Amino acid sequence: MKKVLSGIQPSGNLCISNYLGAIKNWVKLQDTHECIYLIVDLHSLTVEQKPADLRNRCYSFAAQYIACGINPEKSIIAVQSHLPQHSELMWVLSTLTYLGELNRMTQFKDKSKGKDKSINLGLFSYPVLMASDILLYQADFVPVGADQKQHLELSRDIANRFNTRYSDTFTLPEPYIPKEGARIMSLQDPSSKMSKSDTNDSNYISLLDNPDVILKKIKRSVTDSGTEITYSDKKPGLQNLINIYSSFSDISVDDIVKRYEGKMYSDLKVDLADIIIDKLKPVQDKYNILISDKSELDKIFKIGRDKAAYLSNKTLSKVYRKIGLIKSIK
Ligand code: TYM
Repeated sequence: MKKVLSGIQPSGNLCISNYLGAIKNWVKLQDTHECIYLIVDLHSLTVEQKPADLRNRCYSFAAQYIACGINPEKSIIAVQSHLPQHSELMWVLSTLTYLGELNRMTQFKDKSKGKDKSINLGLFSYPVLMASDILLYQADFVPVGADQKQHLELSRDIANRFNTRYSDTFTLPEPYIPKEGARIMSLQDPSSKMSKSDTNDSNYISLLDNPDVILKKIKRSVTDSGTEITYSDKKPGLQNLINIYSSFSDISVDDIVKRYEGKMYSDLKVDLADIIIDKLKPVQDKYNILISDKSELDKIFKIGRDKAAYLSNKTLSKVYRKIGLIKSIK
């Protein structure tokens, strides 16, 4: 079976862009692939976190993965920091990564904008840790949103460089990006992406938002002053709503546009809110049960860690051997 690996940083509130960009495909792929889904807590340390919140979020995100349909009996669910192999491989890969490559990463540029002295080294080297997450498991596919494509290309370049220098070792991973959900935009500013760490919560819909809040956020979302429902770059707000509609309902963009011929933006907005509310209701019900039993989540993490450790140790010992590190005796 081909391997799939992906992860989400436990920062902010999991939102519909994470679901449509990544988790929806995670659920789909777990029937036909060997899947590893991570809570990448070490990545989230690149931005200052409140320790108690971070701890709670790791449980909360795992419960939301499962509530969205990730089945821990089919897929590995693991916490990155439970697996020291990630940080170990990262060191080796960092000796194969050029500063110029990391300087070109748009996410780094965005996140360090306006900061001078307070840019931490982790924010800069973050893509190397991400490459390590992926290459450690010999992943064939990485289901993510379009914003992660550049990091994926870097992972491939690093893998290629290692393979060329030391002989074939790493599988070259391919991005697996959805069509309509690849880039969901902010509800109040459709020129920037919807982000779970946004300080203004009107910009996103959290997977745990209640129906009233969802309706309010969609109704208030920014559209242009026109009336005709068309799908065009000239109407980015409406285009974003149609993308969200299409990804949640699996109805094509063309069919949605036909369905709303002669209708008003408000008709589409109310229907869209209903679709999201209906989709999230069973997720929220399941979440509420799962989150009340942290010890059960701990057990899932332990099983995930053991399976992931087996896979990652295989790669790491191969890497250490190839680069010339000696093995310590038992
Ligand atoms: P993160 O935590 O920012 O986002 C998690 C996932 O959600 C997708 N996503 C979006 N998709 C569509 N529209 C959006 N507006 C949107 N915003 C976020 C992201 O593309 C991602 O798939 N570096 C990664 C986490 C990571 C990772 C990995 C991913 C660490 N190691 C290994 C894959 C494989 C990140 O910051 O995602």
